[in-house]
Amino acid sequence: MSDLEDFIDTLGAGIETVPGEAKQVDRRLGSGWSLLRLRQSQAMRDLVAETTFSVANLVQPLFVVDDMNGSELIPGLGDNARLSAGATHDVVLRDLDAGVRHFLLFAVPSVKAAVSVDFDHVRRAVEAIKKPFGDRVTLWVDICLCSSTDHGHCALLDRNGGIDLPGTLGALSMMARAAADAGADGVSPSDMMDGRTGAIRATLDATGHGRVPVMSYSTKFASQFYGPFRGAADSAPQFGDRRHYQLDVRSRRDAIASSVRCANEGADLLMVKPGMTSIDLIAPIAKATGKGVGAYQVSGEYAGLLALSAQGLLSNLDAALVETWHVFRRAGAAYVITYGARRASAIGL
Ligand code: PBG
Repeated sequence: MSDLEDFIDTLGAGIETVPGEAKQVDRRLGSGWSLLRLRQSQAMRDLVAETTFSVANLVQPLFVVDDMNGSELIPGLGDNARLSAGATHDVVLRDLDAGVRHFLLFAVPSVKAAVSVDFDHVRRAVEAIKKPFGDRVTLWVDICLCSSTDHGHCALLDRNGGIDLPGTLGALSMMARAAADAGADGVSPSDMMDGRTGAIRATLDATGHGRVPVMSYSTKFASQFYGPFRGAADSAPQFGDRRHYQLDVRSRRDAIASSVRCANEGADLLMVKPGMTSIDLIAPIAKATGKGVGAYQVSGEYAGLLALSAQGLLSNLDAALVETWHVFRRAGAAYVITYGARRASAIGL
């Protein structure tokens, strides 16, 4: 038994007020203040805090829309907007000033395709950021087909409406290659198809991008919390839902196996998503794989906090955000993707 378990056991014995053991609890707790003594000042709390957080651990999503003018706020997501290439420049400049280094790019095409997809819009979006900013930004590119297909699913479909797996893996690999060719620092497959990480890794290796890391959305659940995002990425499925390929929240086994498989296929970083519905999985996945595991505070989670704040039900939005980020950290997250990354330095992180 660990010291902590031992101690908790002792406390339990105290509650039962078994005479001999209760005395032992008294010794541990002294005047009853033992758990509070170190919380009396900010300096004391900082001294013993087990999690620290800085803007360096945060990733800011960006939505760059092909053929768009200006920008358009995304309903529910505060200052997050759909951006033209030009508007993106100004936003990234400001975010860099705010200390953000990592961005997750969603490149949204203006034309959708039933079967074939081309990824020139991905090249244009990546170049719009990497050409002017170079190494000042670390740009991860979301790799998925849901913004490109006219049906909104994350896969190409066969004639019967089923998943065309070989075709989908080919398209995802082409998309990853387009991103890497254009200068992306990393790629992030979010589609949840079987074998995508391995296929993308092989393609990158074969096309001279052996150094480009894969940050895989390795444990991604089918969820009600992606709503604001799907509006922004114009990627809502036109029929059915994503439960064929995204994980079922009821299966812990599959949730861990999914990340283990991505690690085995060559993912460099793993991720759980939505963050709040995956808290219990971060440490087991990190332990099983030895990889860094991030948490994605998805659009619905972030929008929920903003909505509480807008209704006056949250007195300090910034403090609430930091609270959630620390919990991801305490659960073992190596990094956090959040629509509030650009607020971090203003908050004091
Ligand atoms: C694309 C993708 C989604 C998100 C990230 N990549 C949506 C989905 O799977 O439907 C969600 C992110 C968010 O809600 O913030 N497949």
